[in-house]
Amino acid sequence: MQFRDSERLVHSLTEDQLTSYRAWLQYNPINQQDYREEIMHLLSTICVKDRNEVIDRALDELSFGLDQMIGYKPAVVRNEEDRSMLIIMIDPTYKAEMYTINLNSEKSMLRGGSSRAILYGVFHLLRLIQQQSKLTGLSIKEVPKNAIRMINQWDDMNGSVERGYAGESIFYKDYQFSKDRQRIYDYARLLSSVGINAITINNVNVHQIESKLITDTYLAEVKQTSDIFNQFGITLFLSINYAAPIEIGGLDSADPLDPKVRAFWKDIAQHVYEVVPNLGGFLVKADSENRPGPFTYGRNHAEGANMLAEAMEPYGGKVIWRCFVYNCKQDWRDRTTDRARAAYDHFMPLDGSFNDNVVLQIKNGPMDFQVREPVSPLIGGLEKTNQFLEFQIAQEYLGQQRHLVYLIPQWKEVLEFDTFAKGEGTTVKQIVSGDVFDNNISGIVAVSNIGNDYNWTGHTIAQLNLYGYGRLIWNPDLTAEEIALEWIKQTFGNHPTVIKLLMEIVMPSWETYENYTSPLGIGWMVNVNHHYGPNIDGYEYMAWGTYHFADRNGLGVDRTQETGTGYTSQYHQENQSLYEQVETCPDELLLFFHHVPYTHKLKSGKTVIQHIYDTHFQGVEQVQSMMEKWEALSSFMDAKRHQDVQERLNHQLENAKEWRDIINTYFYRKSGIADRHNRTIY
Ligand code: GCU
Repeated sequence: MQFRDSERLVHSLTEDQLTSYRAWLQYNPINQQDYREEIMHLLSTICVKDRNEVIDRALDELSFGLDQMIGYKPAVVRNEEDRSMLIIMIDPTYKAEMYTINLNSEKSMLRGGSSRAILYGVFHLLRLIQQQSKLTGLSIKEVPKNAIRMINQWDDMNGSVERGYAGESIFYKDYQFSKDRQRIYDYARLLSSVGINAITINNVNVHQIESKLITDTYLAEVKQTSDIFNQFGITLFLSINYAAPIEIGGLDSADPLDPKVRAFWKDIAQHVYEVVPNLGGFLVKADSENRPGPFTYGRNHAEGANMLAEAMEPYGGKVIWRCFVYNCKQDWRDRTTDRARAAYDHFMPLDGSFNDNVVLQIKNGPMDFQVREPVSPLIGGLEKTNQFLEFQIAQEYLGQQRHLVYLIPQWKEVLEFDTFAKGEGTTVKQIVSGDVFDNNISGIVAVSNIGNDYNWTGHTIAQLNLYGYGRLIWNPDLTAEEIALEWIKQTFGNHPTVIKLLMEIVMPSWETYENYTSPLGIGWMVNVNHHYGPNIDGYEYMAWGTYHFADRNGLGVDRTQETGTGYTSQYHQENQSLYEQVETCPDELLLFFHHVPYTHKLKSGKTVIQHIYDTHFQGVEQVQSMMEKWEALSSFMDAKRHQDVQERLNHQLENAKEWRDIINTYFYRKSGIADRHNRTIY
C-alpha cells in the first residue's frame, strides 16, 4: 500500500488536531532566507541509484519534508550530473544499518548499508533541518548500538489496549483488523523516524481470539500489516498463546515434549511463513499471571521455548520468551518468599540451555516498571543466553499519561548501571547490545504508549517518551538533555524561551513524580488492578497484609542475605555488598533493600520519616512550578496543544496533592512522629 503526499496525515482530524498528530515531524516552514538557500543549494537534486519500496518511502519523506519546510520538492534523477546534488546509494561494504552523510557544496553523499539505513539517514537529515542545524560541511557516521529496537503493542482484538492510556487500538476494532490502514502507515513512519525496526502487534496476554492470529482467519491481514511496516524497515512479530495446541489445535495438551504438540507447531510455523514470509517470530508470555506454559506439564522454560524455536528455525524465525515469571499467589508473610527473586531463580539455572534463535526478554527491574527499582540481576547474570531488555513507555505506574513524566532519565540510569559481570565497567548498555557476551540476538524492547487519540499518546508531552525511546536505544550515549532538546525543537520550534521553559519542565519531572508518590524504592502504593492514584496498602496479590511491612517502628523490605530474603545475593559481589549494607545502600533504594526505623538517618542527613514529608510537600510544589512555566508558554504554540497539556497538568496537581496527603497522613499515623516544620498533614 502506498499513499501520496497529499493524502498523508489527512484523516477526519481538524486542522488543530493535525498539529498534535504530526508529533515531532512538524516540518514547519522555515523563513530564514540564508538557511533556505543553503538547503536548496545542497538538496535541490537527488540522485538515487537503487530503488525499492523502502527507498521510495525515504524519497517521499525527503520530498514531503522539504516541501513543507522550504516550499519545494527536489528533482530525483538516476544518473550523476555535473551540478550540485545529493547522491543516495547503498554501499555493500557498510554494516546493514550503518549510514554516512557528507554534505558539501559540490557533491554530497548519503550512503547506507541497506535501504533501511538510507531511510534512517533521510530522517536524520530532516531532523537536522527541522532544528535548523548547519548542513554544509556536515560529515556523520551512524551505526545503531542495538541490533533489534522493538516496540510491543499490548493491543487486544476487541479494540482495547491493556495498560493503554491514549484511546483505543489503532490495529483492531470489534475483533477485526482496523480498516484505517493509513493510521498504521503513519505509525510505522513515526517509528522508523526514530530508528525502531521491530514490532509485535498484539498483547502478550493472548486470549482465545488472538490465538487465531496465526491461522487463516487473520493471516492475510497480518500479512497486509507486515507489508506496511516492512516499507519502513520494520519487522513484524506476533505474540502467541502457549496453549494454542489446545485453544486452536483441538489437542488435549500443550506439553512441549508431546510429539503431537511439536507437530502442531511445526505445521503452524510452516503455514505462517508461507503467508507472511517476513515475519520476525513469536513473543511468548508463559507461566505468568495465569498464562499457560510448560510448568503445567512439569517442563521448564527452556524445554518450552526450544520446542517453539525448532519449529521456527527453518524460516529464520525467533522466539522471544519473557522472563516476567513469578508466582502471583505467593504468600509474603514469612518474609523469605520474594517476588523480586523470581525471574532470576527461574531463569538463571537455565543459562546456556536455550537454542540460538531464542531470546529472553527481561524487564528492567525485578518487579514491574515501578518509579524506582534496582536493575534486574538477570542482566549481567546470564552469560550464555540471548537477551532483550524490556522497558515500558506506557506510564502504567508513572501517572498513566495523565502526569507529565519524562522517562529517559530513568532509562539512562538503567543503561549506565554497572553490573560488574566482567569486572568494573560492564554496564547494562554494553550487555544488552550483545557486545559483552557475544550474543547472536540482542536489543531493547518497550511497551508502547500509543492509541487512536489524535495526538497518539493522550498527553502531548508523552510523545517525547516514544521519541526518546527510539533515539536512546539507537545511541545509548545520547544524554537525556540532548534527546529532550531535539524533540522540543522539532515539536515546538526553536524559540529560546520555548526551549528554556520546556527543558525546565521535562528534565526534573521523573524526580518530581517520585517525590509525591512511592518513596525510597518501596514501590506500588497504587490502587489495585488499574494502578492509578494512591493506595498505600494496595497491591492486588497481597490479600493477607502489606508488601512494604510498615508498622509503628519502621518500614521497608529486608532483602539482605544476612536477615532477609537473600535477593541481594543475585548480584555480582560489588553490588551485593553495596546493597547488603544499610550504610552503603543508595538512599533512593533503601526501602527496597532494607527494613529500617522511621528515625533512620539517610545519607542526606534527614530521617526517613522527614524525607517522606519533605519530598511529598516538595513534589506538589514542583508540579505547581511546572504549571507556571507551562502557562508562560501559551503564546508560543497553538491553543490546542497548550490547552491539552494544561488540562492534564491541572489534574496532575490535584492528584499529586492527593498522593501527598494520603502518604503523609498514613506515615504520620503509623509513626506518631511530627513533621519538623509543622506543616499541616491531613
Ligand atoms: C504488568 C501489567 C500487566 C501485564 C504484565 C506483563 O503486571 O500490569 O497488565 O500483563 O505486567 O508485563 O505481562
